[in-house]
Amino acid sequence: MKKITISDLMKWKKAGHKFPTSTAYDASFAQIFENEEMPVLLVGDSLGMVLQGHSDTLPVTLEDIAYHTRCVRAGSPNCLLMADMPFMTLNTPEKACENAAVLMRAGANMVKIEGGRWLVDTVKMLTERAVPVCAHMGLTPQSVNIFGGYKIQGKEDEKAEEILSDALALQGAGAQALVLECIPAELAKRITKALDIPVIGIGAGSDTDGQILVMHDMLGISANYMPKFSKNFLAETGDIKSAVAKYMDDVKNGLFPDEKHTIA
Ligand code: KIV
Repeated sequence: MKKITISDLMKWKKAGHKFPTSTAYDASFAQIFENEEMPVLLVGDSLGMVLQGHSDTLPVTLEDIAYHTRCVRAGSPNCLLMADMPFMTLNTPEKACENAAVLMRAGANMVKIEGGRWLVDTVKMLTERAVPVCAHMGLTPQSVNIFGGYKIQGKEDEKAEEILSDALALQGAGAQALVLECIPAELAKRITKALDIPVIGIGAGSDTDGQILVMHDMLGISANYMPKFSKNFLAETGDIKSAVAKYMDDVKNGLFPDEKHTIA
């Protein structure tokens, strides 16, 4: 696989080419993804749930993400590698810069940060210091205790407008990609059209530029529950390589997510 950069994602968005992405946490799976030419991998703090067995992502540390970022980079030298900034690592823009440097030195190409408009100064400071940022909005799992559970976000008009205007503000501050999680498909479509940067959806319908799944959900091996918007591609195909290939093909061809895996 050739080296993937943010310019490729921008090009695909402009051309209307949908792209698949996945979480990854270790070198062996990263190598499988690299062989199948998965362009973007995320070392997500979902590792707190699928690797560590916690009920949420809050216990995950910066060191955990740095360790798994090194592992994934070893298995996939050419993907665009995103690394999650864990809970409480963004308390000030300065702290965010110090913490992001640890992840970039571990092999990340971009950091992902959960939150809306309150992160504008952080995004500015990170990007001015050469740290590319992917924003993450909608159901941001680090805020599970504020939301009172893993609930769909943006159903009410006011909240939907807020998500859209915060997304524009983060793009204006320099964010180069956006993940939208668990929001109504129509809202995700509006935001994707309104933004110039690539938008990657999870539980956000089929009209975003890219899709992401937690790899354990894609393979139906999650220790906890399986979200309704995810699909077990291993059950359909029978082996891991074919499951990854099928997920990638279905995203590229607009077949995943279908109606059954979409939040209206
Ligand atoms: O941590 C994670 O895996 C994520 C994805 C669900 C987008 O943030």
